[in-house]
This record gives sequence, structure tokens and C-alpha cells, in this order.
Amino acid sequence: MFNIDRHILTIEGVSAVELANVYGTPLYVYSESKILEQLDVIRKSFLEKYDNTHAAFACKAFCTKYMCRLLENEGFWLDVVSGGELYTALEAGFPAERIEFNGNNKSDEELIMALRAGIGRIVVDNTDELYHLEKLCEIERCVVKILFRVTPEVSAKTHDYISTGKKDSKFGIPLDEAIIFPAIEYAIQSKVYDFLGFHFHVGSQLMEAETHISALDVVLKLILETKKRFDFSVKDFNLGGGFGIKYTADDTPLKISDFIDPLMERLESFCATHGLVRPHVSMEPGRYIVGEAGIQLYQVGNIKDIPGVKCYVSVDGGMTDNMRPGLYGAKYEAIIANKADLPKTAVVDISGKCCESTDILIKDLRLTKPERGDLLAVFSTGAYGYTMSNNYNKLTIPAVVVVKDSNHRLIVRRQSYAEMVEREI
Ligand SMILES: Cc1ncc(COP(=O)(O)O)c(C=O)c1O
Repeated sequence: MFNIDRHILTIEGVSAVELANVYGTPLYVYSESKILEQLDVIRKSFLEKYDNTHAAFACKAFCTKYMCRLLENEGFWLDVVSGGELYTALEAGFPAERIEFNGNNKSDEELIMALRAGIGRIVVDNTDELYHLEKLCEIERCVVKILFRVTPEVSAKTHDYISTGKKDSKFGIPLDEAIIFPAIEYAIQSKVYDFLGFHFHVGSQLMEAETHISALDVVLKLILETKKRFDFSVKDFNLGGGFGIKYTADDTPLKISDFIDPLMERLESFCATHGLVRPHVSMEPGRYIVGEAGIQLYQVGNIKDIPGVKCYVSVDGGMTDNMRPGLYGAKYEAIIANKADLPKTAVVDISGKCCESTDILIKDLRLTKPERGDLLAVFSTGAYGYTMSNNYNKLTIPAVVVVKDSNHRLIVRRQSYAEMVEREI
């Protein structure tokens, strides 16, 4: 996917310098082959290996019409969390019946939009939503498939901000007997719900399978209790996403099968032991599918060397196009794309151009001696970069380009100043 040709970084055979010249910087660049490769791994290690399964892409990682169309062609599902994501998917012609709707506070407008579109599943996030959605379904005279997102009370080994399965979480239905079982009974008996089963998402950028396994054990107990108490066989179980990727040399991600095989083995043997039919199983990874497929290109501007202290290398973007370092200290690696194989003799901080001291994209980066006008390429920026971009300091949102087999094409145009202010009255 990435190579070096006469000192210049290439992506699927296309020079990074050429991309910057054609589309400008900052720029999001995706390798389509890498996205397809990731989908293929999921296909081989999950969809083809285990029957009665499906995989959805957590759209929040890179929600674009391009991505929706690619996933539709590849037979994947989508997980959306807002009316805007749903709108994007429907605009792209993505079939509503293959869309799951997550989120801890879906508005009436969003829910009605989903019901009218014929959404595949709604993942009910709390009991308040359970009772409220029922009224909307009655008004809309429709039946909807639902799952319960539960909080399995496990703590993932990742940044606290992206550990989402703890008891004290805004996401999911708590497991307290007095809450979960009445809710299950209610869903089973409701005329507007086709209750399918349970969902969890325990956290993101996970480098171990233990958290998923602990959460599965919790769900297995729920499946059994649901059978015993209500004589109801759970039909579906969604194990969420969270599979870690390689951002820096320190990251050692597991293979998807290292997560999936122990989970499936446990689920299947539990069902066999207790005489239960194994439910349909789904997953919804985001970062795993697009993270490593994306890079960001920036132009180097001012370089500020504070003798004996630090060298700040400023680029023409920052926390507006990649919020993750400022948001939760995410780490990245980068090179000078036009000097890709020259010795790295400098240690610098890459600073964004926003008026916040926390707008530092990379700290203590070993880099070829940078100069004004150089092109900086930051790796593994394909997930939660473009989708978290914003207009702070009235910086415009960069363009997005896809590269495939030595060809490149624009999939999102750079925002203009006029577009940025056009909604202002
Ligand atoms: C409900 C849910 N599913 C899936 C994901 C995707 O997570 P990841 O990109 O780490 O795979 C998220 C991420 O926030 C999520 O909240």
C-alpha cells in the first residue's frame, strides 16, 4: 500500500506530492485496497467461518457516501448513530434493512426517520427509550426489530474515555435485576417490538480479547435467564467493535480471529451445554476497517526551535482535522513524505495551527530535518479523523481522496470559506 519511490512516499503507486499538488493540503487520503483487505479479513475470519452472522461498519469512523456504497457492494451492514449518518447512508442508496441504529439519545425525529425508512434494527440504549420508542411505533403503525445494548460492567484496558462497558456509563441498560428483566419481559410482550436479543460495545482500540470474553459471559447468563424466566430464545447477539489497530510501533494489535474464535467457541459450547439454539451473531467494527487505510497530508509552515527546549514544526491543519490527540492523547507516527527515506536526525513536536496549546498532533517525533514547504504524512488517520473534523478557528474541512491501483479520485470536496458561513444569518 505505502512505498517509497525516489525519496517520495507513494500510496498504491500514487505520489503523495502529486496528491498534495492536485488537491491541496491538509488532505485525507485513503487506500481503497487496504479497506477491501480489511473487509476480506472479516469475511474470512468471521462471516465465512461461522454461519448465521453479519458484520456492520460503525459509520462514525468514516461516514461518507463513498464508504456506504463500498460496503453495500461488499455485502456489509452499517451501524449509524444519528439522523445525519442515516441520511448519508440512505442518500448513498444503502438498503435500510441492513442498517442498525445505535445511540444513547436518539431524537423523535431521528427515530421516526429510521422507522419510515424501514431500519433493520434499533439498538435500544436505555429503558426510557424502550417505553418511548413503543409510542412512536404505535403512531407510525410499524413493528421494529430491537436489541438491548447492555452495560456488561467490564472495564476495558484502553483510554478511560473510550472504555464504554463500565457500570457507570451513559451507554446501555444496567444489569440490575429490577431493571433488565422487566425490560426484557416488556420487549417480548410488546406488539410493536420484535425483540432479538443483546448488544454490547465494551470499548475501542482494544489489544486484548479478555474484555469481550468477560462481557460475553455476562450476556450468556442473560440469554439463559431469558430462556428460563420467559421461555424466550434469544435470536441475536451483537458483540460491538473495538478491535485495535497499529497507530505506532508500540501497538501490537491482535488478529480479528484472536477476538472472534474464543468468543464463538464459548458461545457455541454454552448453547450446546444448555440446549439453546446459537443466536445470530454480529459485530460492528469501525476503526479496524478504515484506520490504517488512511493517511493525512499537511504542508510544513513555520518552524520554531527553542534552543535546549523543543522544536515546534507547525502544519497547515491540526485539531480541526484530527481531534484525537487533543481529545484523548492519541498517538501517531509521521514522516516527511518528500524525504521519505532520508535519515531521521530531528526530534520535534508537530503542532497544529489552532489557538489551543493542546493542538499538538504528535509529540517527540523522530523526523528527517523538516523545512518550510515539506509535506508531512501522518499514518493511520483513517478512523475518526474526517468524521470528527470541525471548523474551530474557522478552518475549512479538508478534501478526501481515494487511491486505488495507481488512480486517485476526489470523494469529498474541500469546504470553501463561503460554504462555512452560508448557514449564518
Ligand atoms: C456502539 C458502538 N459500536 C461500534 C463502535 C466502533 O468502535 P471501533 O471503531 O473501536 O471499532 C463504537 C465506537 O464508538 C460504538 O460506540
